[in-house]
Amino acid sequence: MKGYFITFEGGEGVGKTTQIKLIAEKLRQKEYNVITTREPGGTQLGEKIRSILLEGDVNKMSPMTEALLFTAVRRDHYEKVIKPGIENNFIVLSDRYMDTTLAYQGYAHGLGINNMEDLYKIALGDFKPDLTIIFDMDPSKSHGNLTEINRFEKMGNDWLSKGLNGFRQVAKLNPGRCVLMDSIGTIDEVSERIMKILNDKLGL
Ligand code: TYD
Repeated sequence: MKGYFITFEGGEGVGKTTQIKLIAEKLRQKEYNVITTREPGGTQLGEKIRSILLEGDVNKMSPMTEALLFTAVRRDHYEKVIKPGIENNFIVLSDRYMDTTLAYQGYAHGLGINNMEDLYKIALGDFKPDLTIIFDMDPSKSHGNLTEINRFEKMGNDWLSKGLNGFRQVAKLNPGRCVLMDSIGTIDEVSERIMKILNDKLGL
């Protein structure tokens, strides 16, 4: 068995977290070793920086400061979780990774997708996910948990639709690695959709 790094991306409240849990269970039933993780977070250091990024006032830091902190979390996550996971033949499933920085900081905040690609390359080199599933859903249809609104969700509807456009742009720019998936449907329908993509793309 070979290790893989698979990332799940998309807007707010599109059901990624629920699906990752379910997909991990389904892959374990097929006897794969699976690790689930998330960004920002994934390590002790990453979880500390997560609170700095997600809590507090919308304007507490500039988009570039944000991008640098997300990238710092990413490097630590790679060194401590992702790389060892793949090397030990685990399938590592991550709730968000580099494409949120491209879509949100690069496109929605206007820092530039290309600049964010360059920043990623400085921090992570040529390493990329084997497969990225981008959950596509209009922000008005998403079912976010309104009791726990993070700093990004406070940025408003205009921000959320820019984010969605950012993800669509990223998918277009990376047709080999990224699959833009319609994420409307029941939990079972969507998880079947994901299992089919995993099978078609990676033979899992
Ligand atoms: P989280 O609660 O994990 O959101 P979700 O459940 O929607 O995945 O919070 C992560 C937030 O951080 C999310 O609003 C998007 C934002 N974010 C960025 O802006 N850039 C990034 O590179 C990453 C990883 C996340």
